[in-house]
Amino acid sequence: MNLLHGAEYWAVSAALRLGPQDGLLEIGCGSGYFLRKYGATTAAIAGLDHSPDMVDLAIRRNRKRVAADECDIRHGDAAALPWENNSFTAVAAIATFLFWPEPLQALQEIHRVLRPGGRVAIGLGWNADDGLDHAAHVKKYAIRLYSGRRMEQLLTEAGFENISIHYFKGFMEPKGMVAAAAKPGVAP
Ligand SMILES: C[S@@+](CC[C@H](N)C(=O)[O-])C[C@H]1O[C@@H](n2cnc3c(N)ncnc32)[C@H](O)[C@@H]1O
Repeated sequence: MNLLHGAEYWAVSAALRLGPQDGLLEIGCGSGYFLRKYGATTAAIAGLDHSPDMVDLAIRRNRKRVAADECDIRHGDAAALPWENNSFTAVAAIATFLFWPEPLQALQEIHRVLRPGGRVAIGLGWNADDGLDHAAHVKKYAIRLYSGRRMEQLLTEAGFENISIHYFKGFMEPKGMVAAAAKPGVAP
C-alpha cells in the first residue's frame, strides 16, 4: 500500500506545504503511514478511519506522538467528523475519497473542521481524467471516479476557494490527480 501510493503521498503533501505550525488531519488514514512520515514536522496530527482495525494500526504506528499528546486517531465516517469547528489547519485524504458515499457532505465537514485559511488536498490516483478503463475497478471496489472539473464543482459547493487540480505520475497511476483548495479567511 505504501509503495503503491508513494507518488500520491508526495503529491498531497506538496499541495499542503505542511510546516511546524500545522495541525494535520488525515481522513481515511488507514495504517497511519502518511501521518507518521509526512506529518512528522507538524505540531499535531489526527486521523480518522471507518475501519476499527486500521484505527488500531494507525495508533500503534504513531504511538510516540500519541504518548506525547500530539496525535488523536479516531474511528468514524468522513461524512460526520468527530471534531469541533476550526480544529485543523490542513486536511489530507489519500486513496479514500473515491470510496466515500456522501462526497459533498464530507467536503462540507472538512470545511467545518478547518480553520479560516486552512488547506485541503485530496488524492485521486484513479480518476475520470486519467484515460484508463476503470469499469472493472468500479464494479470490484464500488468506487466513484471524479474528473478535475467535478472536483472543482464539489469543492466550490462546499465553500472552498483557491481550488487547483494537479496531476502526477504514480506506480499504477498514469495521471493521478490531487484536488487542493482553501477555506476562505486568513490563517491565524
Ligand atoms: C486504500 S486505503 C488508503 C489508506 C491511506 N490513506 C493510505 O493511503 O495509506 C482507504 C482507507 O479509507 C478508509 N475509508 C473508506 N471510506 C471511508 C469513510 N467513508 N470514512 C472514513 N474512512 C474511510 C478505509 O477504511 C481505508 O483504510
